[in-house]
Amino acid sequence: MKRVAVFTSGGDAPGMNACIRAVVRGAVYHGVEVFGIRRGYNGMINGDIFPMTSHSVSNIVQRGGTILKSARSKEFMTPEGRQKAHDQLMKHGIEGLIAIGGNGTFTGALKFFEEFQIPTVGAPGTIDNDLYGTDYTIGYDTAVNTALEAIDKIRDTADSHDRVFFIEVMGRDSGYIAIQSGIAGGAEMVMVPEVLTPISEVVETLKQGWSRSKSSSIIIVAEGDVEGNAVVLAEQIREQLAVPIDMRVTTLGHIQRGGVPTAYDRILASRLGLGALEGLLDGQKNVMAGIVNNELIYTPFIDTIKLPKPINEDLLRMVRILSV
Ligand code: F6P
Repeated sequence: MKRVAVFTSGGDAPGMNACIRAVVRGAVYHGVEVFGIRRGYNGMINGDIFPMTSHSVSNIVQRGGTILKSARSKEFMTPEGRQKAHDQLMKHGIEGLIAIGGNGTFTGALKFFEEFQIPTVGAPGTIDNDLYGTDYTIGYDTAVNTALEAIDKIRDTADSHDRVFFIEVMGRDSGYIAIQSGIAGGAEMVMVPEVLTPISEVVETLKQGWSRSKSSSIIIVAEGDVEGNAVVLAEQIREQLAVPIDMRVTTLGHIQRGGVPTAYDRILASRLGLGALEGLLDGQKNVMAGIVNNELIYTPFIDTIKLPKPINEDLLRMVRILSV
């Protein structure tokens, strides 16, 4: 393989730049030409493809976001879109791809291979940490720390005013950010999409806390919680509580996707970027590079897409025990 291209796709995640840097510098080391594709599959379709050198990735290891920009491409979901993308790759002589992204990105790569046999190796880039085949995804650690910083600040004001706060963190289908930031932030409860927590249980926990003279409480809600988002939940709980309650809702939103990546994310992203590139050069295809038990492994896209990555439910139990 003499020429490869790298792109970022789906929701951006802190550490993606460190990953791009590792792919580009790895390619330079191995004497392979490397191109960048801007805005994910959209850039592939539109031919936004350009040569990269070692210098192209100077001073980016510490930056959040992605210098290649990102997108969720609707057009790539159509056969016409994929045909255009293939034509552009052929025009630029690209023989293999490194895709930094999540489930949607790998689903697209798999479909693309079925039609055009262009091999892709993935690197898991999503703050949600919801990909099977790696212990941690790029951006997750930074997102947890960003959420935690916010939770700590809210704890100060919650305590000053004796309030109950519902804090919504990201995680469309996954409670990883909620659990980690909840444990580290000493939350009273954590609500996640994977486990149903009945409203009555939240009400009971709040009442028990008050009976023990707890003045403030923080409940972390993953945005994809089955019972509803933080605003919906807070309203339902207000209705079920017989007593008036001073309650506030804070949605952390996209601040969790930005910011300077932690050391952990930069190191993880560097290992995964180089691992993905070297896997591709060794003949791997349709697999995602991941780190499991500190070892680099490759997992077929089909498994990363289909297999669940269960949360550790015992951690939820721990939240309850430790917040008494
Ligand atoms: O997949 C990462 C993620 O941040 C989810 O946690 C969140 O639901 C979603 O992306 C938000 O996407 P968008 O930026 O398109 O609103």
